[in-house]
Amino acid sequence: MKAQVDRDLCIGCSLCAEICPAVFQMGGDMIAKVIVDEVPREVLAQAEDAASSCPVNAITLTA
Ligand code: F3S
Repeated sequence: MKAQVDRDLCIGCSLCAEICPAVFQMGGDMIAKVIVDEVPREVLAQAEDAASSCPVNAITLTA
């Protein structure tokens, strides 16, 4: 799975980085960024949780 953050939608709430720091980190501009090419299997559930928790649905996970 690949994760993507839509920078135009992200409002910098940082929930994703708290829920799944192995995949999401806050950039200096307080927009979330994806720090891995592929979501590691061990944290897939966390990444899905982060995606569904994002208040503006800025995160997409694709196969
Ligand atoms: Fe942005 Fe959503 Fe994460 S608003 S900081 S992508 S939880």
